[in-house]
Amino acid sequence: AQVSTAEFVKSSKRTEDCPADGLPEFALVGRSNVGKSSLLNSLVRRKRLALTSKKPGKTQCINHFRINDSWYLVDLPGYGYAAAPQEVRIDWDGFTKDYFLKRESLVSVFLLIDASIPAKQIDLEYASWLGQNQIPMTLVFTKCDKRKKKKNGGKRPEENVEDFQNLINEFFKSTPPWIMTSSVTNQGRDEILLHMAQLRNY
Ligand code: GTP
Ligand code: MG
Repeated sequence: AQVSTAEFVKSSKRTEDCPADGLPEFALVGRSNVGKSSLLNSLVRRKRLALTSKKPGKTQCINHFRINDSWYLVDLPGYGYAAAPQEVRIDWDGFTKDYFLKRESLVSVFLLIDASIPAKQIDLEYASWLGQNQIPMTLVFTKCDKRKKKKNGGKRPEENVEDFQNLINEFFKSTPPWIMTSSVTNQGRDEILLHMAQLRNY
């Protein structure tokens, strides 16, 4: 399930403008700054294929990356706080949700949750929106390399993950599949690629 080639294909702001070749794809979604673009780079073993930043709001379009000439990874703008005006963020929310609802070649969404901080209401709301719209999802906990900090609630990533799962179990009858990751140590990389390979073969 390893990546041998990865190439940027295009940036789109409308679902209709996305690649039309029908290859299966997986989208990375989550709060701004959660580490979507960094995870994409970790998966393809490249440092700067997808652009990252300390400042939330870096990714602003639906970005398609073709992997092994046979499937896509899709990097998306984040939701929640971002260093962008409110009307721009509303636009991002509109076109990403339109993409989730209409994109037929979308196999599954990978919802990224920051494991270095306590569970956030907005993440639960996003998970429940995906669930209500029957969009298949896998939970990806990011930044598992970060150690506990008092200002972030003083909990270890494992404890934050457990808290989030307890909360999400109230929304879902069965817990979605979940993977713990770090783009610094590349924890979870093989697990994600294997999971994506299994999903493509259904
Ligand atoms: P937007 O495009 O703004 O929505 O953000 P994003 O979700 O794509 O986040 P991005 O990958 O740009 O990373 C945001 C910041 O978090 C950067 O400073 C990254 O270096 C850092 N970061 C991302 N993943 C990890 C991780 O696994 N561990 C640690 N310690 N930092 C990370
Ligand atoms: Mg990004």
